[in-house]
Order: sequence, then C-alpha cells, then structure tokens
Amino acid sequence: MIDQLNQIKSEALLELNAVNDAASLEEWRIRFLSRQGRLPLALEGMKNVAKEDRPAVGKAANEVKTVVNSAFEEKKASFETVASVLPEDPSLPGYPHRPAQSHVVNQTMDRMVQIFRRMGFALAEGPELETEYHNFDALNTPADHPARNEQDTFYADLPPHPKFGRLLLRTQTSTVQIRTMESGKPPFKIVAPGRCYRRDEIDATHGIFFHQMEGLVIDESANLGDLKGTMEFFFKELLGNDTVVRFRPHFFPFTEPSFEIDMARKGHAVRGKKWLEIAGCGMVDPAVLTQVGLDPEKYRGFAFGMGVERIALMLHGIPDLRLFNENDLRFLAQFQGA
Ligand code: DAH
Repeated sequence: MIDQLNQIKSEALLELNAVNDAASLEEWRIRFLSRQGRLPLALEGMKNVAKEDRPAVGKAANEVKTVVNSAFEEKKASFETVASVLPEDPSLPGYPHRPAQSHVVNQTMDRMVQIFRRMGFALAEGPELETEYHNFDALNTPADHPARNEQDTFYADLPPHPKFGRLLLRTQTSTVQIRTMESGKPPFKIVAPGRCYRRDEIDATHGIFFHQMEGLVIDESANLGDLKGTMEFFFKELLGNDTVVRFRPHFFPFTEPSFEIDMARKGHAVRGKKWLEIAGCGMVDPAVLTQVGLDPEKYRGFAFGMGVERIALMLHGIPDLRLFNENDLRFLAQFQGA
C-alpha cells in the first residue's frame, strides 16, 4: 500500500509539473484529487490494512496527501497571480500611466522661487522642528509674547535643547533668517520656502500646517526703497503687470519699521474688498542683527514673509484650502504646471 501511494505521488507530481494552464490543472485535479480520483480511491484501501500496519501506512498516507495537495495549491496560486496581472487578451492596450507632477502648492513655490532667483536670491532652508530660541528669542520675540502661547504653538514632548530651549514645530519661516545669518557671512540674499505649523481651527482659510516663503537681504546699503521695489517686481511678475501693492505700517518684533503688504488687481476684488493682505515685511531690527553677531552700524537689510497657500488659492481661484491636503487626484490632477 505504501508503495502504491508513493507511486501515485510521483506520477501526480510529475504530471503536475507539465501542467501549464488552468484548464489542464483542473483535469489533473479531477484525475488525482477528486472523489473518484486516484489518491482518494487508493486511500480507501486503508480499510483493508492489517491493524498492526495501520500507523505506518497512515503516516505515509498523510505525507503523500500533504505533499500532493500543497503542490496543487502552489500551482493554482501561480496561475492566479499571473491571471490577475495579465489581461485576458494580451493584445489589449495597456493601462495608462499618469506622468508624475508636483503638488499645486509645490508648483506655486517653484514659480515664486523662480522669480526671486531672477533677482539674485539664493535658496535657503531650515528645520521644521525648531528651538524656541530660533523661532522666537532670536527674532526679538520675548518670553511673554502671545505667539509663544501653548495654545497656538506645537511644542514637542522632547528634552529641551541645552542652549536653545524647548523644541517646537516652527510657526514661521523667519527662523531661517537666523539660521542663515548664524551660519555664514554677509552679504545675504536668500528666500526660504517651507512648511510651518500652528494650532488653529481648521476651516477654508486656516490649516494646522501651511507653507510660507521667507526672504532676507543683508548688506551694507539695503534700504526701504529696495524692499518696496523687490516686492512690487515680485507681485507683478507673479500676478500680472496690472497688480499694484501698497505698504501699510504694522508691527513685527523682528523688523523696524514693519509693514503689511496689500495687493490689488483690476477687476479682482475679493469678497467685495479691493485690497488683499498678502505679506509681512520690514527693515531687519538692529536687535536681530546684534543677536546673530552682526554690527548694526555696518549692516542693514530687509525681510519679508508670505503664505504660499494663499497665493496658490488666488492664482487658481481655489475656494478652500482644505482641498490641498485631501489628496484627491480629481482635484490635484487639474494643475499640470511644472
Ligand atoms: N513671520 C511673519 C508671520 O509668520 C511674517 C513676516 C513678517 C516675515 C515680516 C518677515 C517679515 O520676514 O519681515 O506672520
């Protein structure tokens, strides 16, 4: 009986080896494994085996069943994977692949950076997990400033930096002003695009993370006229020649004087308002220069910062900022820019 089972096993495996499509696999299964197949029929012979031989024969029978069944399952699975990849008719056209494209927010940043590069700005970067010092203190923002409130800042549950204080997700790209001035020698002329984080209620115009683009120019002669010219050129290049900007006095801790920039375009009133607030800027405060070891009697400069999402919304007439982060291709695929 054991010989007979082994014989069936070798034949079954040999024939299975030659099987190369689902139909012949089914034929093979009927021949060897179905109720009237050779293996079940042979196993019926167990009834007639002498009692003392049963354990040995039972063991051999189990082994043969396992080997043959798993060889069958394996073969079957190999057809299933192939079948799920290949269309039934291999001459059918293939699946279309959409060429990769960058996210509309990145496209917007690229476009902004291109304009600044043409004006001679270099690209700078800083970390998103920042120290309290770089995000606030060095930017002339003292410990009791409301922006440092736990309620609008994400502090990390990590040990503080020994020198620079607690760690937090940066709330502004102005940190890169400090990092740039710390790590090089003037003159500086950089833009720093990147992600920022603030605790906020999420709605059509607020998210808990967003992108800003920071700018910093430091040399021995930069003045307010340069700042104004730079901003005017930038917004006209970005939004068209009929764009006008105005500087409205404001307060930022790290610039003095400081301004908010409003822009307007003919025929583009937003919610009935002609002027749209679009950026912050100013002349770098001498206290900031001193903090990074630059002599404010010798060096001067200007800085600016603006939200990228807001510009992307405006460029494309997108109604709601939340669309940027839902990862819905029906939305994202509409922006075929760079
Ligand atoms: N960091 C400011 C903010 O997040 C924006 C800003 C204002 C940046 C004035 C600047 C600046 O560089 O000079 O609200």
